[in-house]
Amino acid sequence: MKPTTFAIRGTVCFSTDSQNLTCLENAFIVCQDGRTVGVFPELPAQFEGIPVEDVGDQLIIPGMNDLHLHAPQYAFHGMYMDLELLEWLNQVTFPEEARYADLSYAEKAYSIFAEDLRQSATTRASIFATLHVEATELLMDLMEKTGLKTYIGKVNMDRNGTADLQEKSAVVSAGDTVRWLTDTAGKYENVKPILTPRFTPSCTDELMNALAELQRTYRLPVQSHLSENQSEIAWVHELCPNTSFYGEAYDQFGLFGSPDCPAIMAHCVYSSDAEIALMKKRGVFVAHCPQSNTNLSSGIAPVRRYLEEDLHIGLGTDIAGGHSLSMLRAIADAIQVSKLRWRLVDDSLKPLSLEEAFYMATMGGGAFFGKVGTFLEDYEFDALILDDRGLRHPQPLTARERLERLIYLSDDRCITGKYVSGNKIF
Ligand code: GUN
Ligand code: FE
Repeated sequence: MKPTTFAIRGTVCFSTDSQNLTCLENAFIVCQDGRTVGVFPELPAQFEGIPVEDVGDQLIIPGMNDLHLHAPQYAFHGMYMDLELLEWLNQVTFPEEARYADLSYAEKAYSIFAEDLRQSATTRASIFATLHVEATELLMDLMEKTGLKTYIGKVNMDRNGTADLQEKSAVVSAGDTVRWLTDTAGKYENVKPILTPRFTPSCTDELMNALAELQRTYRLPVQSHLSENQSEIAWVHELCPNTSFYGEAYDQFGLFGSPDCPAIMAHCVYSSDAEIALMKKRGVFVAHCPQSNTNLSSGIAPVRRYLEEDLHIGLGTDIAGGHSLSMLRAIADAIQVSKLRWRLVDDSLKPLSLEEAFYMATMGGGAFFGKVGTFLEDYEFDALILDDRGLRHPQPLTARERLERLIYLSDDRCITGKYVSGNKIF
């Protein structure tokens, strides 16, 4: 039988809040029934005899929570980076997503995605699929097998798509969503559904109303895009002349979430004061996607402000606006773009520290999934074991220095172990 109580011994680093990182060498983390009991300098007497995995001086850190990525776009990650958002959607993204009407293509592409995400630093994620029900269910089957915990959304889009990638009407889109929810209800341990109106330009009012009704019936969280690019924001303003800011275009239908069932909004690069106030009131989780915002020349989100205003904030790779599946890279990117913003845009918003960006990737985004993202007592035990022996250095380094180097320099080969909710993934 699988042990329900075990310990791992190594160099442990985790956030306790947005400002503080705890690092302990030769420490024991005890995990019981999928949750952390605590981190101890010696194994407490009451746990004597439990299995202990000694990982030497490798680092043990919380798993990474990717709040925003598109599984069907993984097939073109690292390609077609010379466009801005709206042109990129029409010329590259929509044609590629249309291929997922073909299940044999979906199987090939999603198998690669699922395996690569399994091997990555990500332990939990909130994922966009496409508008296709069958391919979305296939993605859910594949992700279930990885052992990672994910939310997956069948995308809704009934306007401003292409001939190949648009649902025929709001009624068809809502009907397919019900079919998808019914087919998958109770089927998975690791995968949950999330309502996914692509963004306001993709969804008619009739569709938004139908989705809001489904949201209330099934008590589902919502994910979408918000205030990513200035042309997009101007377009939403034209499409919704009754609203005074973009967020209202979701909120008027009840699709901006609530503190007990929050929404994830990706990007929030240009959110106004009023939009930020509403995000705070509704408990929105901001998915900050620095690499995507750079690749698509979207801009730089005022992340320090979101932290100071105590908004929920996590990081997203936004594959394939972002080109790297690595959440460790997302931490480094978040720090780098915050420095450019501070130097070039607004010197009142200081750059992010390593502590703050690490917190966003772990505890900040983790809160969307429950008690997730740290090794404090009773948090779900999601962990990575990181081996930095290949990153040779001529002198001994502190645990924090080693963590920083891994964030900037590591690749998936450094990840030698991974746990989700106490289950060993590899
Ligand atoms: N806005 C609407 N759809 C998308 C998408 O697929 N990626 C990004 N980055 N923004 C979007
Ligand atoms: Fe996106």
